[in-house]
Amino acid sequence: MEHSKGKSQNMPNAHLHELFVDELRDILGAEKQLLKGLKKLSANANSPGLKSLFEQHYTQTEGQIERLKQTFESIGIGSRGKKCKAMEGLLDEAEEIIDSFEKSAMLDAALISAAQKIEHYEIASYGCLVTWAKLMEHTQAEQLLGATLAEEKETDVKLTEIAMTEANVMA
Ligand SMILES: [Fe+2]
Repeated sequence: MEHSKGKSQNMPNAHLHELFVDELRDILGAEKQLLKGLKKLSANANSPGLKSLFEQHYTQTEGQIERLKQTFESIGIGSRGKKCKAMEGLLDEAEEIIDSFEKSAMLDAALISAAQKIEHYEIASYGCLVTWAKLMEHTQAEQLLGATLAEEKETDVKLTEIAMTEANVMA
């Protein structure tokens, strides 16, 4: 692993630094992969509410990628993502679902489930990153990552709301 400017001897919990950078690269890769995935999710959503939530989350994800770049900058490290195997697997599963079913309330229910698995992965990643930023006293990084964590949690709640209303309930 490379040595970087962000690691200083005065930084508390410096042992977390390499882990923090590695996890930032993983989630940056994941967000970029998700941009493509969200296009497919919204194209295959039947319920207008679900479609629009996926579209909103696409725009939000672009903003989250921007925040990640700012986070790298705040600790003096070049912004670089790496392929996230977990996101790749989650998106593969979503694609399998899309290939197996026609556009329908049932497919919507399955898409919501796939999207919630993705959100929970992101919530876990950002949750750890916020904790590590706090422990290393990277205040700006903590704020940026915390803002994204809040968005991911909100998206998860909205997915449940749609599942309980329009997507799974036949009119
Ligand atoms: Fe995200």
